[in-house]
Amino acid sequence: MTVPPPTEGVLVDRYGRVVRDLRVSLTDKCNLRCTYCMPAEGLPWLAGPQLLTDDEIVRLVRLAVRRLGVTEVRFTGGEPLIRPGLVGIVAAVAALEPRPRISLTTNGLGLERLAPALRAAGLDRVNVSLDTLDAARFARLTRRDRLADVLAGLAGATAAGLAPVKINSVLMRGVNDDEAPALLRFALAHGYELRFIEQMPLDAQHGWDRSTMVTADEILAGLRTGFDLIPDPAGRGAAPAETWLVDGGPGRVGVIGSVTRPFCGDCDRTRVTADGQVRACLFATEESDLRGALRAGADDEELARRWRTAMWGKRAGHGIDDPAFLQPARPMSAIGG
Ligand code: 5AD
Ligand code: SF4
Repeated sequence: MTVPPPTEGVLVDRYGRVVRDLRVSLTDKCNLRCTYCMPAEGLPWLAGPQLLTDDEIVRLVRLAVRRLGVTEVRFTGGEPLIRPGLVGIVAAVAALEPRPRISLTTNGLGLERLAPALRAAGLDRVNVSLDTLDAARFARLTRRDRLADVLAGLAGATAAGLAPVKINSVLMRGVNDDEAPALLRFALAHGYELRFIEQMPLDAQHGWDRSTMVTADEILAGLRTGFDLIPDPAGRGAAPAETWLVDGGPGRVGVIGSVTRPFCGDCDRTRVTADGQVRACLFATEESDLRGALRAGADDEELARRWRTAMWGKRAGHGIDDPAFLQPARPMSAIGG
C-alpha cells in the first residue's frame, strides 16, 4: 500500500529526510559555455513567458519559508547574475519572516560590480565557480576569455562582506586535473573556501563518462602532493562537502564526492527551476509544475500540497551506479546547481 504524503507541515520524504534548503534557478541562460555543461552554441533557452516572474519567485520562496520549513535559499542558474530583477528578488526574500539565509552560486562575471548592491539587499554568501587559474585554460574550458573578471568578482565579493566566499572547482582529466594544489594555494592566500566537486552526468551533450571523471580519492591524492590534510573535526554535517584541515588549519578544503561518496541519505534540498517546476533531486526524472498551478490561481494551500507531494516521491538515491541510470532530460544549467 502506498503511504500518502503529509497534508500539512514541512517538506519531508518517505525516507524521513526533511527539506531545509531551497535552490531556485533564476535563468537557464549563461554568459560562459563551460565544456562540461553546454555546447559552444548554447542551448534552446526558455522563452520569456515560460520563466517565473520576480513576483512569482518571491511568492514561492515565501511559501517555502513560512509554511514548508525552508531556512536556506540559494539562487542559481544558468548564471543568476544575468537575471535583471536579481537584487530586488534578494531584497524581497531577505524581508521574509522568518528570514532565511540567502546565498548565490555564480560564475563570477559581473560580481565585482553587483556585490555591494547584493550585500545591501541582504545576500549572505556567494559560491563562485572557478576551475583553473590559467587564462588560456580558462578560455578553452569556458570558451570565453574572462578569467580576470572572475578574479575581480571574487575580490569584490570579499570587499562587499559576502564572506566566507566559497569557490567550486570541477577537475577534468587531462584538462585541469593537475591544478588542485595551485587552486588551493590561491584560495588559502585570499581566504576563499575551496571545494572540489566530482563531475556529474548533467551536461547538455550527454558526454559524461565515469572513466574521465576525476574521483574524490584522486583529488585528495593530488592535494596531498602539496599539503598535509587531516579530516576536519567539525565533520560533514548536512553539507555535502567533506572537509579537511590544511597543514594543521585553520585553512580548510572540501571535496564533494557526489558520485563516489554520495550524500543522498542526508540530502535536505528541494529545487525550483526557472520555469517553475519542482524537482526533488538534481537527478529526478519527474518534475511537478508549480507555475501552471500558480497562474491558474492556486492558493498557498494548493501550492503547498503540490510541493509536499513532489518531495514525497523523492527517491532514496541518485542511482548513478545503477546500470538502469538515466541522465535527466534537462541539463544542469536548466535545473540549477
Ligand atoms: N558536474 C559537477 N559540477 C557541475 N557544475 C556544472 N556542471 C557540473 C557537472 N556536470 C558546477 C559548476 C558550478 C556549480 C553550479 O556546479 O561548476 O560550480
Ligand atoms: Fe555557465 Fe555554470 Fe554552465 Fe559554466 S557551468 S556554462 S558558468 S551555467
